Amino acid sequence: MLKRTRCGDFRPENIGQTVKLNGWAQTNRDHGGVIFIDVRDRFGVVQVVVHPDTEAEHALAHSLRQQDVIEVTGEVIARSAETINKKIPTGAIEVKASTITVLNRSETPPFMIEDDCDSGEQLRLEYRYLDLRRSNMQRQMELRHRVSHAARNFLHGQEFLDIETPMLNKSTPEGARDYLVPSRVYPGSFYALPQSPQIFKQLLMVAGMDRYYQIARCFRDEDLRADRQPEFTQVDLEMSFINQDDVMELAEGLIAAMFEAGMGVKLNPPFDRMTYAHAMDKYGLDRPDVRFGLEHVNVTQLMLDVDFKVFREPAEKGGLVKVLRVPGGNDLLSRKNIDDYTKFVGIYGAKGLAYIKVNDKTDIPNGLQSPIVKNLSVEVLEKLIAATAAENGDLLFFGAGDAKMVNDALGYLRVKLGHDLGLIKKDDHRFVWVVDFPMFEWDAEAKRPVALHHPFTAPYPEDLHLLDSAPLQATSQAYDLVWNGTEIGGGSIRIHDPEVQKKVFKALNISDEEAESKFGFLIKALKYGAPPHGGLAFGLDRVVSLMCGADSIRDVIAFPKTQKAADLMCEAPSEVDEAQWKELGLRKRRTTI
Ligand code: AMO
Ligand code: AMP
Repeated sequence: MLKRTRCGDFRPENIGQTVKLNGWAQTNRDHGGVIFIDVRDRFGVVQVVVHPDTEAEHALAHSLRQQDVIEVTGEVIARSAETINKKIPTGAIEVKASTITVLNRSETPPFMIEDDCDSGEQLRLEYRYLDLRRSNMQRQMELRHRVSHAARNFLHGQEFLDIETPMLNKSTPEGARDYLVPSRVYPGSFYALPQSPQIFKQLLMVAGMDRYYQIARCFRDEDLRADRQPEFTQVDLEMSFINQDDVMELAEGLIAAMFEAGMGVKLNPPFDRMTYAHAMDKYGLDRPDVRFGLEHVNVTQLMLDVDFKVFREPAEKGGLVKVLRVPGGNDLLSRKNIDDYTKFVGIYGAKGLAYIKVNDKTDIPNGLQSPIVKNLSVEVLEKLIAATAAENGDLLFFGAGDAKMVNDALGYLRVKLGHDLGLIKKDDHRFVWVVDFPMFEWDAEAKRPVALHHPFTAPYPEDLHLLDSAPLQATSQAYDLVWNGTEIGGGSIRIHDPEVQKKVFKALNISDEEAESKFGFLIKALKYGAPPHGGLAFGLDRVVSLMCGADSIRDVIAFPKTQKAADLMCEAPSEVDEAQWKELGLRKRRTTI
């Protein structure tokens, strides 16, 4: 019996062989008697030619419709010189059909199964199995496979154990909202799906597993964006008897292995490191895109004594006044551009976007063109030009207000300008570690500190005393890896001393009772010889989508959810029947809220 040859595998060496192939009919073109069918499988496409002298086959070929599933046997022949297609690997040959069998028919697909599919994402998600049949989606799934396979291989090589942790867990909300699963056996009680395997991987260290990894599914009920999904995958790991540098070095080796498998490019660790404070100061964001300049300049001090209230008040009230200098911006940006950027920063709460055009820096104030120059003294203007190292032709943008607003507004404006002005080189891959995060940040709404990473992150030993007296000043042993401005992974050294863990819960305003009921099992475990440990997790979907240059992580997840957390194909979430409600001891509310 003939063995199947994969459509993409045919080469001139096969000429003269009798072969069998399977696949989907992509096109069939009738060239005045001779019919050409492009047959495609995951491995490529091959041209099948059917002559009128094979009468039954010819009639069948004629009846074939797009996406019918067929089996063809025939002979591999050379194409004539003028019909050779150099664009595809099988382009020098074709298969002359002797038999064609239709294995299954296809209805007309709702969109063309082609690489550049212009139909809307809604339809593509509803018929995801057809969308995935497109070869660029198949290439992306293959790339994802190569990357996760490389991660497994690398970690296996470093003696990590692949251990599965449970999906049905106790709800310990931190960060995002939990997805809950009602229990039938314990009516009124719920399991929570894991936001990450965090606590379990720490328990595995207590258990002496030394090195753990898992390609782990995580669930977070949070507002979705292009780089966030409600269920997503982490390459998650934890190690014992290590310090921050050890984890970062290991993670660099891991990402380099994943990168080589996905992109065929060798990275050159160690990567640069930047403190959180530096990132916020120069870039306004904790995930700096370091492929281009346009760093912020903090001029808050300079504005303490000016008359201009828009700048003086934030300076007096503990806010920020920052400048973003656009070299050559006078010529590069029109009045309309400036208006558009003013609207853009409005998204982040900025009430305006003051600017100065530097026409002649030797002639202050006349050489400066701006709606705000009249509000600032010559002395302040001279200091501004010096602080920003402005040259003639540059444009200075200003952000003034509370620190978060200014950092967001000028941080995102910087990234937008980097793209709009073409400052980002193609194929430039910049990795940077952001380190020394604060332990906590103040949540103005909840009026309490919240953990910047998670509550299991250890402070630096020298900051331990601050946990009681000034927790917001304590620095943590946490680190994030940022690739071209996207946070692709993060981790920390963990607390292994139960007393320190209790202090952190206290700093977070979590009462002893609440800590006991939510995290009692962790505190208990820490009392039984927990080794010093730490780890990290990479967001696999984010890494792969960056490698593919995809617009959204949805493009590298086989069956993703929409921005509204729905599965359009199987229509999840869905109503369940009365019996299921009853069985779970649940009742629908009669009133609508
Ligand atoms: P963290 O919450 O920073 O850390 O997550 C680690 C990485 O997971 C990715 N990620 C996401 N990807 C897609 N959709 C989401 N909704 C989403 N949320 C996070 C990001 C992120 O960098 N347990 C810790 C890790 C540790 O401390 O070891 C954790 O989960 O790429
Ligand atoms: P106004 O005095 O409100 O007319 O503002 C003068 C200039 O300052 C205008 O160009 C505004 O766009 C700008 N501006 C107002 N508020 C801010 C702010 N918070 N940050 C930066 N620029 C601002």
